[in-house]
Amino acid sequence: MSISTADYWDTYYPSLDESDRDELLGKGFSWTQWDHHGPDEGFLQQPDTALELGSGFGVHAAYLAMKGVRTTGVDISPVQHGRACRMWGDVPDLRFELEDVRDYLAETNETYDAIYSVWAASWFTNPAELVPLVRDRLNPGGVYAFSQAPAVEGCYGAQGMHVNGFKGKKGGIARWFYTPDMWNGILRNYGFLNVEAEIIEAPDPEDLGTLLVRAVVPPGG
Ligand SMILES: C[S@@+](CC[C@H](N)C(=O)[O-])C[C@H]1O[C@@H](n2cnc3c(N)ncnc32)[C@H](O)[C@@H]1O
Repeated sequence: MSISTADYWDTYYPSLDESDRDELLGKGFSWTQWDHHGPDEGFLQQPDTALELGSGFGVHAAYLAMKGVRTTGVDISPVQHGRACRMWGDVPDLRFELEDVRDYLAETNETYDAIYSVWAASWFTNPAELVPLVRDRLNPGGVYAFSQAPAVEGCYGAQGMHVNGFKGKKGGIARWFYTPDMWNGILRNYGFLNVEAEIIEAPDPEDLGTLLVRAVVPPGG
């Protein structure tokens, strides 16, 4: 038996206290690793409906739903999905689904004004597979936005990582890294327009910044 992707993500954020709802919401909708730093939910251009890819314990999706956006969060980890359902189950217009985002996007009939991902599934899924699925589920004029760590200079494409060291059960995950210019080309290649991709500097410029990307489906679809 090896460690599956879902097993790995089940261990994410072990110190989360599910009763800290207000404190978590008070950090705002941040695309970076810092609270109230960089663009907020306005980066999604005021959608009526939104889909979060890799929603984890659900705070970003809950934040949006509380602002009146009908929101669905999808996550592959049963532990994170369970936390999200327990923590935000009483929030109107909010739903969580337990699934690999690729399967969800391929199977759903729903379409969205915004599809987004915060240091999550957009980073851990091959864009050649994911971007066309996202494109198909966005309404005309819809927005695809995501954040993740920037690439190490010179290291682009898929990068694998053993998740359990050298002893014990084997397991690996991959992440996809590109420069802002490369993301621009990838997204245009799949029919997106107005691509903006940049690295948001950390509050202390010595620290690692955040790659933030937004692209729009043409108004004609
Ligand atoms: C680093 S966590 C970030 C969670 C959340 N976006 C946040 O900011 O707290 C990455 C999340 O992506 C989810 N994830 C990774 N690959 C996925 C996939 N293929 N389908 C669905 N969820 C995925 C993981 O289960 C995990 O909850």
